[in-house]
Parts: sequence; C-alpha cells; structure tokens
Amino acid sequence: MVKKKTCIFISGKGSNLRNLISRSRDNNFPIKISLVICNNMEAYGVNYAKKNKVPYIFVDAKKKNYENKILFNLKKHKISFICLAGYMKIISSRIIRNYKNKIINIHPSLLPKFKGLNTHLRAIKNNEKYSGCTVHYVNSKLDSGKIILQKKIKIKKNDTPLSLAKRILAEEHKLYPKAILKVFNL
Ligand code: GRF
Repeated sequence: MVKKKTCIFISGKGSNLRNLISRSRDNNFPIKISLVICNNMEAYGVNYAKKNKVPYIFVDAKKKNYENKILFNLKKHKISFICLAGYMKIISSRIIRNYKNKIINIHPSLLPKFKGLNTHLRAIKNNEKYSGCTVHYVNSKLDSGKIILQKKIKIKKNDTPLSLAKRILAEEHKLYPKAILKVFNL
C-alpha cells in the first residue's frame, strides 16, 4: 500500500495525534504521518512528534506569513491529506481550496449539534440524553462539512463536562482511525 503523506494539525494535548501515529505504523493503515503543524508553542502534543521523529513546525496565526508558511511546508513535505486533531484555529479558505476534500476534523459532539467550543458543557446544560464525537470533512463553515462517521454515547446523570470529555475522548481514539479507513474505502 502506498500511504498518503499526512499532516496532523494540533494545538494542545495531542492524544489523537499520538493515537494516529501509533495506528499509522500498521502496514494496512492508509496514511503516514509526515508532518505536524502546531499553533501553540506550549502544546504538549508536540512531544509525540519529537518522540516519534515526525517533523513538526510551529505557526503563529498572528503573523503575516502564517498561511504561506503552512502551505509552503505542506508542499515541501508532499502532503496530500490533512487531519485536524484539536486544532483551535479556523483553516483558511485558501488552504481548503488547495486541499479540497482532503481535510478532515474530529469534533467532540454529535454534529450538527454543538458546533464550536465547550461542547460538553453545552450538551449537559441542554439536558441532552446523548453526546459523542464526529469526524467530518472540513469546508469553509465551522464544523459543517460532510459527516464521515459519528459515535454516540449516553450522558450519565452525574456527568460533568470533564467526565463526559474523558469518555468521549476514548471514543475519539477509536473513531478517528475508523473514519480514515472509510475515507480511503478500506
Ligand atoms: C478533542 O476532544 C477533539 O475532538 C477536539 O479537541 C480535542 C483534542 O484532544 N477537537 P487531543 O489534543 O487530541 O488530546
């Protein structure tokens, strides 16, 4: 199998990154993690790139050359597929145009419910019975691209945003690799 050279965008803990790096070692998994892009100098997740010898770069959304730096590095590393994993910035339309239908994201809610931030708190406050996570294509509207896969879990009576986040994150780690297999018809 010729693996797709993939870039993972992160901003924080990077548990999805760690999980995808480990899954991508499997010969039958369709992607190779060839680059990590991070917009937060303090992101713990960068350690997983370092530890696994995956090239990584930092970008600063406040800088003028922000987009150019991203596109330059994507081209330099011959990236053909992008996974957002806890990346807290909106991907610009220019990058989306360059990677049409090649960018996917994981979001911790049952989209189209609870786009954006603080999903767990909002789901609990709204007395939802269920929450979960969604992997979807990225388009120019926030958390609105075509859904690839979703996993639903029950919200417990005594759930806090933290306890719910923890259970959903464990599901994310199963869902993201599954969704990638689905994208490549595997
Ligand atoms: C995950 O809950 C993901 O769904 C959301 O941000 C979180 C990232 O977690 N977009 P991690 O950095 O992969 O641990």
